Amino acid sequence: MSIRSQLLALSDELRRLKSEGVRSVAVSERSLTALRQAATYVPPPEKRVSVSPSPCVSATDSPESGPARPWSPAGEKRKGSVAPAMVPTLPSPPVVVLPDADKRARWMALRDLVLGDAVCRANVRTGCQVVFGVGSLEAKIFFVGEAPGAEEEQRGEPFVGPAGQLLNKMIKAMGLNREEVYIGNIMNWRPQLTTAAGRPQLGNRPPTSEEMAYCLPYIRAQIEIIRPAILVALGATATKGLLGEGSFRSIGEVRGRWHSFAGIPLLVTYHPSYLLHNDTKRAKRAAWEDLLRVMERAGLPVSDKQRGFFR
Ligand code: URA
Repeated sequence: MSIRSQLLALSDELRRLKSEGVRSVAVSERSLTALRQAATYVPPPEKRVSVSPSPCVSATDSPESGPARPWSPAGEKRKGSVAPAMVPTLPSPPVVVLPDADKRARWMALRDLVLGDAVCRANVRTGCQVVFGVGSLEAKIFFVGEAPGAEEEQRGEPFVGPAGQLLNKMIKAMGLNREEVYIGNIMNWRPQLTTAAGRPQLGNRPPTSEEMAYCLPYIRAQIEIIRPAILVALGATATKGLLGEGSFRSIGEVRGRWHSFAGIPLLVTYHPSYLLHNDTKRAKRAAWEDLLRVMERAGLPVSDKQRGFFR
């Protein structure tokens, strides 16, 4: 990975940790050296364009790509290279009307609606996909994540990258498999970092309030169709999306506690990406204790072995 890419990935990760409520991080000597190198690195002129982080092509680069962007490029202030190049002026959130039919037919109608949504599609680069939820329509447990990342937007499925692999392990440790639960995201498109010129660059940014508000009817409708026994919000952004922006200051305030969304008990736990980057027994134990709470409340059997995983 180039130094520039490492730096972008680092700032992306720091932003995520901050949104999770982390206030300090240990920095290794190797990372400090890489940072220093990055600060003194001057790319050759032909490489001054933004990195192309995935095979997807920017919708702004290609005249034939999809419907017009529902935002206005005019008049916004551009601060630094990681600020979104355009201020989104999204239309009001969609009103979801589903057929008066059985669960599967309603779910399929909703999926068609989301995958065909012009706003979602306009925010997805050519070759990438809008991402809708997956899993069992009879799931007792519904995991809600933040937004698709690079792998997810390419495969059109939530949690298929490194965070998804950890989520799969967590689900397996609960005695379930991925097909028995439901997995969705607050956002249906990848909130990708862009340069000041609007070109995509490596890494995601946290979704804006407006973006989350736009996609909220879609996750709400999935929840209302599935009617799981329990919702699990993965991380601060998913929690903000479901409980509201101002409902807490740091994830520590809400994690491990029961809340409610659409009349369904909701437990907040750490995002798997946070656990990947904060690989401590303390964090893993806290997340596992959250999942034990979920299992108990969902009426799933809990063995002594499962109870003692982190003892
Ligand atoms: N992180 C999320 O929150 N959702 C995904 O789908 C992938 C990573």
